[in-house]
Amino acid sequence: MNEMEKLQDALRFVRERTGFQPQAAVILGSGLGGYASQMKIEMAIPYRDIPGFPVSTVAGHNGQLLLGYVGNTPVFAMQGRVHYYEGYDVTEVVRPVRLMGLMGAKVLLLTNAAGGINLSFHPGDLMLITDQISSLMPNPLRGKNLDELGPRFPDMSAVYDKELQAVIRKAAETCGVPLQEGVYLQTPGPSYESPAEIRMFRSWGADAVGMSTVVEAIAARHMGMRVAGISCITNMAAGILDQPLCHEEVQATAAKVETAFTALVNEILTKITEG
Ligand code: HPA
Repeated sequence: MNEMEKLQDALRFVRERTGFQPQAAVILGSGLGGYASQMKIEMAIPYRDIPGFPVSTVAGHNGQLLLGYVGNTPVFAMQGRVHYYEGYDVTEVVRPVRLMGLMGAKVLLLTNAAGGINLSFHPGDLMLITDQISSLMPNPLRGKNLDELGPRFPDMSAVYDKELQAVIRKAAETCGVPLQEGVYLQTPGPSYESPAEIRMFRSWGADAVGMSTVVEAIAARHMGMRVAGISCITNMAAGILDQPLCHEEVQATAAKVETAFTALVNEILTKITEG
C-alpha cells in the first residue's frame, strides 16, 4: 500500500464510525494529558484500532483520537503523539496530522514540552511558537509528492499563522496567562542536547528545543491547514543551569502548568470557531 492508500484506509475506518466534521485539530503534548475532561466527547478511538496508525510507546503519552466539542468548536484531538525517536519514520509520524486534514480540520494547534534556550525564559513558561527550525530533521514530504494533499515545493515562510497568533495572544490575555514567544527547534532525540548544541541552537535563533511538532507543522502546511503552536517550557535547556536534565523534571513542570495550559487551550479552541 502506498502512503495515500494508507491514509485513505485510516480515513475510511473513521468515516465508517462517524460523520463528525472537525473544524480544529489539536495535538495534546505533555501537560495536556488530562485535556479530554474539558471536551464534550462524541467518540474516542484508540490509535491501535486505526489501520496504519503509529502507536506511542512512551510512558505518559496515551494514544487515542478524540472527537468532540470545546465550546461550540468541533475538535479532533490527539491525546498523545508518536515521536520520531520511537523508531517510526517521519511519514508515519505525520500520518495522524494528515488524517486530521483529510477529515476537514482547517486549523491545527500543536502543543509540546520544550527546553528553554532563551535565557529570559523560566521553567513553567508557556511560549507561543512564531517560527521553527527543521534543519536537523528528515523532511516529512520526502519521497513521491502526494499531489492530492499539496504541492511538491510548499512555501514555509509563514508556518505559524499570523491571525492565529493574534487569537492566541488575546486568549492568553483573557486567561491572565503570561505568554513568551519564540522559535522552536526540533531534534530527532531521544537524548537531550549537549551544552555546545544548545549554544549553537541559540546562535541559530532558536528559543526552545523539543522532539516533536516541526515535522507535523510542515505536513499540515503542505495540506494548507492553518497552524499554531504552544510550547510548555518544562526546563532550561542543557548547560544553562548547573544540573542534569531528566524526563521526571519535564513531567513534573508540565503537571504544574496543566491548569493554566488547559485554560489557554480551551479559550483558543473556543475562539477559533468564532474567528
Ligand atoms: N530538550 C529536548 N526536548 C525537550 C526538552 C529539552 O530540554 N525538554 C522537554 N522536551
